[in-house]
This record gives sequence, C-alpha cells and structure tokens, in this order.
Amino acid sequence: MAKPKKEKTHFVCQSCGFDTPRWQGKCPSCNTWNSFVEEKYIENRKRNSANGAKDYQEPVVLTQINTDNLPRIKTISGELNRVLGGGIVSGSVVLIGGDPGIGKSTLVLQEAGGLSSDQFKILYVTGEESVSQIKMRADRLGISAETLYILSETELEAVLETTRKLKPHMVIVDSIQTMYSLKLESAPGSISQVRECALQFIQLAKKNNLPVLLVGHVTKEGYLAGPKVLEHMVDTLLLFEGDRDHFYRILRAAKNRFGSTREVGVFEMVNKGLLDVPDPSAIFLSERRMGTSGSTVICCMEGTRPILVEIQALVAPANYGMPQRTTTGVDYKRIAILLAVLEKRLGYRLKNMDVFVNAVGGIRIDETAADLGALACIASSISNKIVDSGALLLGEVGLGGELRSISHIEARLAEAEKMGFERAVIPSGNKKGISKKFKMDIIAVHTAQQALDQVMN
Ligand SMILES: Nc1ncnc2c1ncn2[C@@H]1O[C@H](COP(=O)(O)OP(=O)(O)OP(=O)(O)O)[C@@H](O)[C@H]1O
Ligand SMILES: [Mg+2]
Repeated sequence: MAKPKKEKTHFVCQSCGFDTPRWQGKCPSCNTWNSFVEEKYIENRKRNSANGAKDYQEPVVLTQINTDNLPRIKTISGELNRVLGGGIVSGSVVLIGGDPGIGKSTLVLQEAGGLSSDQFKILYVTGEESVSQIKMRADRLGISAETLYILSETELEAVLETTRKLKPHMVIVDSIQTMYSLKLESAPGSISQVRECALQFIQLAKKNNLPVLLVGHVTKEGYLAGPKVLEHMVDTLLLFEGDRDHFYRILRAAKNRFGSTREVGVFEMVNKGLLDVPDPSAIFLSERRMGTSGSTVICCMEGTRPILVEIQALVAPANYGMPQRTTTGVDYKRIAILLAVLEKRLGYRLKNMDVFVNAVGGIRIDETAADLGALACIASSISNKIVDSGALLLGEVGLGGELRSISHIEARLAEAEKMGFERAVIPSGNKKGISKKFKMDIIAVHTAQQALDQVMN
C-alpha cells in the first residue's frame, strides 16, 4: 500500500520571505509584525518526470559549453534593446516592474506585437484583463499580429500546459502577482505563490531556452510587491519610472545578468502607445523659453548617455512665517546646501524668501554635476538677471563655494555642442581631462562666483 503523503506546515513572512516552522509575532529577519502566514507543503513529493526518465542535468565542462545557443532577440524598441544590453537573451527571465498605470502592459503588448509580426510566436498570458480588453488596447496601439496568442488565465499549471502545447518563442506574463499554483493553498499574490510561480517560469525558461517576460507590481514604497527573492531570482529587473503627469517614461535596469545596469531607455506615452525617444535632450529642451531669469541648462548622465535638462527656479518673498523650499526632480537636501552656499559664500539674501526649484520634463536629477546649474538658476531668479541661454553649466559646488570636477566631461560637452550650445562653464579641475577638440568656448573657473560672473548679466 502506498504510504500516505505527509503534510507539514511552516510559516512564511509576507514581507521578506523568512521561513520558520513556528508562528512568530515579529519577523526576526525584517522586524515586521504580524507578517507570518501559514503554508502547507507536501513531503516525499515524487520527481515529476515523464515515464520515470531522468530530468536532472549532467555537469558540463566549462570549456565545452556552447554559448551560440544564447542569441539575443532584438525587440522593436531601440530603447528597450539598449536597456536589455542588446535584446532579450533566449532562456532569460526579465521582470518589468512599475507603478500602476505607468504603461507596463502597453510596453509588453507593443513588443509582443512587434515581434510576432517578425514571425515569432508569442504567448501573452494576462491575469488582470480579459482578452477583449487586450484586443481593445491592441487596436489602439495598431497591433494586429497573426502569431500573437492571448490567454486569460491565472492558474500556473494551465499556463505551463498551454505553453507546452503551443511551443511559443516567448512567453509574457502580466502579471506574476495574479498567478497561482494549485500546489499551494495560499491566495494569489501571497509571497509563496509569487515565489512558486516565478520559480516555475524560470524553470520553463531555462529548460526550453525560452525567454519569459514577467510583469510585476510595485508597492507604494517603490518595492516590487512580493518577496525580495523574486528580484534575486530573475535574470533582469527593469523598472519603469515616470511621472504620470508627464508623458515621459524612463526604463532602468536595476539588475541585468546579460548587460550593463547603467543604461536607461526613454519613452514618450502617446495615444498610440509608447514611442522611443532616441534624442532625449531635444525633447527636454523643446519647450524652453529663452530670455527669462531663473532658468539654466545642465547635463546629467543617464547610464552612458548624456541628457540635457533645463532647471528652473523661482525665488519670491514669503507671505507666511516659515519660508518654503520646494523641489521637483531635484534633491531637496542638495538644494538646501546650495542655498546655504549662496547665502554664506556668495552674499545672496534668502531670508524670508520662498524657493521653488524644478527639473523640467519629469526627469529626476541626482547628480552633483548639476550643482552649478541649480545654483546659477536660483541666483538668477533672486537677482532677476538672465543666465546666458547659450551656456551650459557644469560642476559640483563645494561648501566653500569652490567648483569641484565631475565625471564624463567630454561626453557632456559633446552633447551640448550637438544641441547648439556655444559656451560651457566647467570646473578648472576638469580642463586637463579634455583631449577632444570642441568648437564651443570652454571656460574653466575655480569658484561658483566666477562661473556666475561669466554667464549672468
Ligand atoms: N486612450 C488612451 N490614450 C492615451 N493614453 C492612454 C489611453 N489609454 C491608456 N493610456 C495610457 O496608458 C496608461 C496605462 O497603461 P497600462 O495599462 O499599460 O499600464 P500598466 O502599468 O499595465 O498598469 P496596471 O498596473 O494597472 O496594469 C495610462 O496611464 C495612460 O497613460
Ligand atoms: Mg497592466
């Protein structure tokens, strides 16, 4: 008589995935309270190999491993290819995360549509929307592909079975949080379910050399909902960012086993879907109004790509007791430092003044190379003097008001020259790092005050 399967329970922290045999009030790993949920697992589970055939892998000598069977599938979006490191690697699992409504489904459907018109068979599994909803979106995006299969399903086993039968070239799962496995009792979206489903998709990808694209939810705090382990398990984690008020979206690689994590992709959300923005500087500077005070241009590096961005500042008398300091897209603490430098080292009066600083276009600047530009636009707004619109300002401002050198100086200057800038003010420490010939005037200065003297009149 067959031995009955022994069922055992364990408890899993919903926040970090910590596993324990006994229930605990507080997770010893992440210190979250009340986060343990009971899970049952079955012991003595048989290998699920067909006809008892061995399905385990034999070790292979490193030098005999052939990497030719890892071709990259180029997606239709140049920006997505750039972030992925040249395309999706066969057998890799890519997780795309992002805030609700940012455009994850749009991106994956567009890519699915584009690839399937190249005779790729794609299976798009949706657990969130009905097939007719997908069709409506596809119609809006202008996608009509004969080899794009839509499956509205949330049961993992059914999805795996369909994949086995259909033999697609790529599987897209939107989203991993809606999938559930019959093997576990917990609800879809719970940590064990997400982990189990992700694991099954990873096995599917690796065994069949099939690329799998998973869409994941991001919580309010910006973490990928589900276990942190999910982020460790996948080969590539892409995060879709952007302000929903703006049309620009930025795709960053938070992790990439097959490429650099320093590249970003820039997209514009329009009625017809997401458009590539191959030349972001032109877009970010397109609405610039010349001849107004409180506006400068800086160059920030997004991966290896320099992007020119306008920074605006408005300094106005405060009407109420406590003056306001509000920033959008620029680090608040960095602006506080620059205000102190302006007040103490450059002699500007900022007491009882409200200060608003804004990076135009919904982009987020977190580089100290933008210091000089931000400082100059605040100074320009206080004194109501215009900063030369043909000048680019680069440099980190030290607490003594001195200008410190920055990285990637040549790439930044080349981008500015391409966009028609005539002058660049740079830290004197960077002068020796420039070997290329530039047509624009390069002015090297030692202090922030000297920089302002050059560009403000
Ligand atoms: N008719 C439309 N015209 C223009 N833009 C639209 C239209 N419909 C939707 N959008 C854009 O698409 C976005 C929603 O995209 P999508 O459904 O791909 O997001 P998502 O990240 O998958 O969201 P969720 O997390 O809810 O699944 C909207 O926020 C909006 O910007
Ligand atoms: Mg969606």
